[in-house]
Amino acid sequence: MGAPLVIAHRGASHDLPEHTLAAYLRALDEGADGLECDVRLTRDGHLVCVHDRRLDRTSNGSGPVSARTLAELEQLDFGSWHPGCVPADGDEVLDESHTRLLTLERLLTAVLAAGRPVRLLIETKHPSRYGGDVERRLVTLLRRYGLADPGPDERVRVTVMSFSPLAVRRIRTLAPALPTVLLLEVLPRWLRLGRLPFGTAIAGPGIGLVRARPQLVPALRAAGNQVYVWTVNEPADLELVLTAGADGIITDRPAQTLTRLGR
Ligand code: G3P
Ligand code: CA
Repeated sequence: MGAPLVIAHRGASHDLPEHTLAAYLRALDEGADGLECDVRLTRDGHLVCVHDRRLDRTSNGSGPVSARTLAELEQLDFGSWHPGCVPADGDEVLDESHTRLLTLERLLTAVLAAGRPVRLLIETKHPSRYGGDVERRLVTLLRRYGLADPGPDERVRVTVMSFSPLAVRRIRTLAPALPTVLLLEVLPRWLRLGRLPFGTAIAGPGIGLVRARPQLVPALRAAGNQVYVWTVNEPADLELVLTAGADGIITDRPAQTLTRLGR
């Protein structure tokens, strides 16, 4: 079994505001193998990297992201709420990479410019609300950047994730070469611990599920799946996931995880 991939959840989001360019560049600097981001649609159909349905927690705006145009969202501050963005003597100078809305397109550009292999794990939010639009627009954008049909030696490799089997199936249909992750917060009754549905080869259980079912990761792996566990921030959880043999560790603290792995 090889060393697990270390995937920065919303960037280095313990230290810097989640889903900002600064948080992703920090994770790359720290040596993360991959970056995780959530995407949702603006009112005018742009894919933006925001986790919550509403703007209130991570910006100085309010209301649903989907009610705003991209131009309106570009006016908001997505960073100053985070303790890592409070200026103090000797701290790095904050710039717009810490505060500006990140579009998926800007993240793709940054990842392609990184000059080293990077995995990008994109989670589509609310597939039922958007009626397939988010997956269609995502695949169109990835195709434009040559990332939807990757060859074996591509440096940037995209994987699409969702809690929704419907979204996973849509991606498998639109872009069969893209690997997909079926995220699991609980074990659905229909899921058999054999191969996952729709040609999905990666399971994404939450750490709560792994704590409750310590045999889950080995069982999924024994059936031929890979397993990426989220969100592994505590040292005890990291040990649990390493012992279980996970293939990917999704964490807000990539530097701490890499140190534990001796990297
Ligand atoms: O990586 C999967 C994980 O991000 C799913 O949960 O709520 O952080 O998007 P959430
Ligand atoms: Ca996510």
